[in-house]
Amino acid sequence: MQNLKGVKILGTGSFIPEKVITNADIEKLVDTSDEWITQRTGIRERRVVEKGTSTSDIAVEASRKAIDEAGINPQEIDLIIVATCTPDMFFPSTACFVQKKLGIKSNPACFDISAACSGFIYALGIAKGMLESGMHKTALVIGAETLSNVTNWKDRGTCILFGDGAGAMPLKATDDKSGILSITMSANAAYTDILEIPAGGSTHPASVETVQQGLHFIRMDGKEVFKHAVMNMLKATKKALEMSGKKIEEMALLIPHQANMRIIEALGERLTIPKERIFVNLHKYGNLSAATTIVALDEAKKQGLVKTGDLVELVAFGAGLTWGAAVIQL
Ligand code: ACO
Repeated sequence: MQNLKGVKILGTGSFIPEKVITNADIEKLVDTSDEWITQRTGIRERRVVEKGTSTSDIAVEASRKAIDEAGINPQEIDLIIVATCTPDMFFPSTACFVQKKLGIKSNPACFDISAACSGFIYALGIAKGMLESGMHKTALVIGAETLSNVTNWKDRGTCILFGDGAGAMPLKATDDKSGILSITMSANAAYTDILEIPAGGSTHPASVETVQQGLHFIRMDGKEVFKHAVMNMLKATKKALEMSGKKIEEMALLIPHQANMRIIEALGERLTIPKERIFVNLHKYGNLSAATTIVALDEAKKQGLVKTGDLVELVAFGAGLTWGAAVIQL
């Protein structure tokens, strides 16, 4: 095993399902209005998968595009990590289904990680460590969610917020220190109960009662989550910058988790970064949880907002509570 110094980002890819659910559509499901949703969150519409589509299906769509852009042979991939809170099933892992659907026969290590909306940053951090240690050479890191499957479409406090989507990033171990410059990952488990899907695991195994009580859907104390989101994203953004030795002024783009426009604006104000350098796509997709930052990065690249060599910071927070940030060079 040879210790390498860095991790190169070979490409990105994303996939967003076609089916659109607008705020007007949600007005027909719960007591809400387009005006309330737009003003309080910034979200105008979200995308959802058709019935029968698994998280691995959209993860594979995103991965094909990312692998294509990277110009690598999929058989080179020796590590697949999927960040998701909507896995295909408890086991096998979604990453194993991705391996199968991509036709990768070289027996890469495959596993999922659970860190809710911070999942992609966590997965990136794990991949960085595994590549730099020399244990693996080429990784495929994915953030993918079909949150429409765990959304309670009768709960106006949550159903307005979430959507489905996937993004992927192939990475390679290199002997220079470009690519992923720094990553920070943290959690505060004092707040496990303010954002959760209570049933389906060992605490409340699936039963007629758990289904009847709607315990398999997302439950959230939105106001509480909001407070912690701004504070922890600010902390993470600053920490990753400090670790990388870079300044916020050097970032071509800040890509924050896309949960609520008011959270993004509050973060931007505290960091004193101009609005033009903060990427936003939540009006189109809502919150894609673990897929958010990678989908946003891919879109920013495709829109020409960032190019090879640019510095970008990703920052996210989610259930746990978890949070994290990464400073990367494209
Ligand atoms: N339409 C109309 N009224 C609504 C709606 C709605 N969709 N939702 C709530 N309300 C009402 C409430 O019932 C309340 O009414 P009341 O004053 O009569 O009791 C009023 O609006 C205010 O409710 P709040 O919950 O205080 O509204 P708030 O301004 O906090 O906005 C929101 C709610 C949008 C959920 C916000 O708190 C938020 O975005 N929080 C963060 C969510 C988040 O980031 N989640 C991350 C998930 S990440 C992961 O890990 C999965």
